[in-house]
Amino acid sequence: MPRVFSGIQPTGDPHIGNYFGAMKNYVRLGEEYGKNSIYCVVDLHAPTNPGAYDPARLAARTFEMALANMAVGLDPQKVIFFAQSHVPEHTELAWLFTVITPVGELERMTQYKDKAGQLESVPAGLLMYPVLQAADILLYKADTVPVGEDQVQHIELTREIARKFNHAFGETFPEPRAVLAKDALRIPGVDGQGKMSKSKGNTLGILEGFDSIWQKLRVAPTDPARVRRTDPGDPDKCLIGDYHKLFSDLPTIETVYVGCRTAGIGCVDCKKMLMEGIRRELTPVQERAAELQADPDRVRDALATGAREAREIAVPVMEEARERVGF
Ligand code: ADP
Ligand code: NA
Repeated sequence: MPRVFSGIQPTGDPHIGNYFGAMKNYVRLGEEYGKNSIYCVVDLHAPTNPGAYDPARLAARTFEMALANMAVGLDPQKVIFFAQSHVPEHTELAWLFTVITPVGELERMTQYKDKAGQLESVPAGLLMYPVLQAADILLYKADTVPVGEDQVQHIELTREIARKFNHAFGETFPEPRAVLAKDALRIPGVDGQGKMSKSKGNTLGILEGFDSIWQKLRVAPTDPARVRRTDPGDPDKCLIGDYHKLFSDLPTIETVYVGCRTAGIGCVDCKKMLMEGIRRELTPVQERAAELQADPDRVRDALATGAREAREIAVPVMEEARERVGF
């Protein structure tokens, strides 16, 4: 059976892009692969991003991200779910990998170049980020890594690291493959300016209050060709049309698409119908989140158990790697 690994950044406040693009996928894969699906809140990576990292908030962010994933339906009893910093083998394996990873390869990584380009002084950790990521995956001998397109280059490097290690020290690690979300979902931001992203401040949070979500939707742009209520519109050129496909049932989508094209319904009505779908989808998530917030030990205990389960795999693999290298 394949073994799936995915890292979750402890950024807190997940949005509907994260939800449809990643979190729901984790739940689905968890149903399929059980304890062979490993989800790690990758808190050790956080300090490489000085802009978004606050030491006073890191532990809370890790907790919040774990809670959010559990609220969405990730079941820590079914999968292995833990925080990276609770399993010290990640950093130890990363060190072994640094000795076989060419600096030139790391300097070629697009994400590194983008981030380093904005910094006056570049921390070595930023350069080493993909080495730690390779260790995250290979520590579990995972062969299947669900990621977004921006991570494909890092997974290629992980394959190369596995290959080099096996070549230098003997067959030890599989060469994992990146699995892209089937429909390569790219949820647009509520400002209509491209992809939804935390850094762009154009998000609808999955745990955000419905009043707040509505205030954002109310002023969200629609098809610019539809100036007056009596003008027909094109729902395929409208952000609200895109969102309906995520949140609404088929009859509603049909009503909205026909109504927009014939000027039968106005944009405000269309947004109100979307709001119903959002409520239906997110109410159970928000209710579960409230339950977990009221009982935070459930989240902490889940992560502690998850770390023990992770180490049952990680410790022997680390021992094997250590021996191979000669320790
Ligand atoms: P952000 O861009 O808000 O910082 P991350 O980069 O932390 O989000 O992404 C976390 C996960 O959510 C990744 O798997 C990523 O592919 C997915 N994701 C993020 N934004 C979107 C989006 N707008 N549409 C689809 N998936 C997304
Ligand atoms: Na991003």
